Amino acid sequence: MKSIKIKDKEFDLFIEEEKISESIQRIADKMNVELDGKDPVFLAILNGAFMFAGELMKKVTIPSEITFVRLASYRGISSTEQVQEVLGLNESIEGRTLVIVEDIVDTGNTMVALMKQLNELNPKEIKIATLLFKPEALKNPLNLDYVALRIPSDFIVGYGLDYDGYGRNLSDIYKLKS
Ligand code: IMP
Ligand code: MG
Repeated sequence: MKSIKIKDKEFDLFIEEEKISESIQRIADKMNVELDGKDPVFLAILNGAFMFAGELMKKVTIPSEITFVRLASYRGISSTEQVQEVLGLNESIEGRTLVIVEDIVDTGNTMVALMKQLNELNPKEIKIATLLFKPEALKNPLNLDYVALRIPSDFIVGYGLDYDGYGRNLSDIYKLKS
């Protein structure tokens, strides 16, 4: 099996580009039907979702906009409170159908924090699209509208996802050697 080394860790090939692409096509087909006429705004979350967003948007054929934001996380007033602030959203999303484009939903904490902030901007509705979903790790009730791939709770890299900043450029997805 194909293996790679990133920094101090070894990873095995897990999901090949062709399968990733097919899975993205499947959700894009669904979006092209369900979001037709809704004039959606896709909101891609940097850095992780850059590759997924690029591939997805080539397959989305309905009129739509795409914009990119970054999440800044810092500790809140109490040391346990994680605050996620959305940076770089300059256009109004009031009254719009919003589609969050994320790399991965793990515990779901990030998504819950993001939804809370975006809801304050009064969109018409918020849909969630994620390249990867780890159902066993989910700790929050979340309705994921578009999931390209469901995976076990292993640590993975590639296709936008990183290990300590590296590996985002890999066109296949790799799993940490156990
Ligand atoms: P959550 O808030 O626990 O759902 O975590 C979401 C964030 O954790 C993602 O946006 C990723 O940045 C990171 N993450 C979770 N699992 C992985 C993984 O397997 N590889 C790389 N990053 C991950
Ligand atoms: Mg992320």
